[in-house]
Amino acid sequence: MRTFTLTLLLIFAGIGAFAQDAAVETGFWRDPFGDPMFPFYLVTGFVFLTAFLVVMVAVYMLKVLNVFIRKAAEERAEKLGIAYVPQPSLWTKFWNSINAFRSAEEERDIMLDHNYDGIRELDNHLPPWWKWLLYGSIVWAAVYLVVYHVTGTLPLMDGEYQAEVEEANARKAKFLASNPPVAIDVDALVYEPTDAILAKGKQVYTINCVSCHMAEGQGSIGPNLTDDYWLHGGSIKDIYSVIRDGVVEKGMISWAPVLSPEQIRDVSFYIKSLVGTNPANPKAPQGVLYKEGPEPVVEETSSL
Ligand code: HEC
Repeated sequence: MRTFTLTLLLIFAGIGAFAQDAAVETGFWRDPFGDPMFPFYLVTGFVFLTAFLVVMVAVYMLKVLNVFIRKAAEERAEKLGIAYVPQPSLWTKFWNSINAFRSAEEERDIMLDHNYDGIRELDNHLPPWWKWLLYGSIVWAAVYLVVYHVTGTLPLMDGEYQAEVEEANARKAKFLASNPPVAIDVDALVYEPTDAILAKGKQVYTINCVSCHMAEGQGSIGPNLTDDYWLHGGSIKDIYSVIRDGVVEKGMISWAPVLSPEQIRDVSFYIKSLVGTNPANPKAPQGVLYKEGPEPVVEETSSL
């Protein structure tokens, strides 16, 4: 039973490690059924499960067979009138051979002849498993030396790192080739929201901006983004520029190093779409009145 549980655990650990590798790449855990590798995992899972069951059944059959063999041997011994001596199990044989225990009767032979105040010493050898570990590591050291340092067949850590960086760069280049970055020309930027842009903008906003401007843009550390008053201008170009460059001395960082131009455009459009939504608990207006229209209204406010 213990072996059974252990095998089961090992199999699940193996499958888990396998699946986690894939998760990094394809988001397997986010949407397992939609994953292109899903049929492969399913089939592999079944193959593993079947193999496991076959092995378990085989082990069980062997055990049953053993019982019969022992019964037959017992009967034969009884017929011949001799005492039945059970064969040690394979496991016991293996255990004894890797440990080479000496029985208490043998101790006389390996007793060393020095005697310190009644304390004597047995000449016990190191157990074979220990020695094989040592020989194994000596062989491994030689292989390691040749493979990693003489022939260079396998890369050292630095080489592995370089190879991974190269692979990542290749993947990045491939990604950029199929998703060319959208160039945003601020001077020509026009507020033309689509549902897709606003959805992406909302995502960017929720991740990066909520801590200071609050969930509905009503403002807290940062100003209210839903009213018609703006510290740095309310046109889409102004909004884009202030997000890109920040107002560092006032606590609004420059987002250019964090967000792509496309993301800044998306979040600017999202902010523009918040204007006039009148959320609860708004922060008092700050800055200059700006109203969109054919002739934008720009007016000083007294609240500053
Ligand atoms: C650490 C707090 C903080 C975070 C995070 C933050 N802001 Fe700000 N933001 C501010 C502050 C403070 C101001 C006001 C700057 C000033 O007083 O000139 C501001 C100003 C602005 C303005 C100009 C408002 C106006 O009245 O002209 C916009 C637009 C803006 N933020 C958008 C964003 C966006 C988009 C994000 C997320 C990508 C973001 N902010 C994240 C603190 C923050």
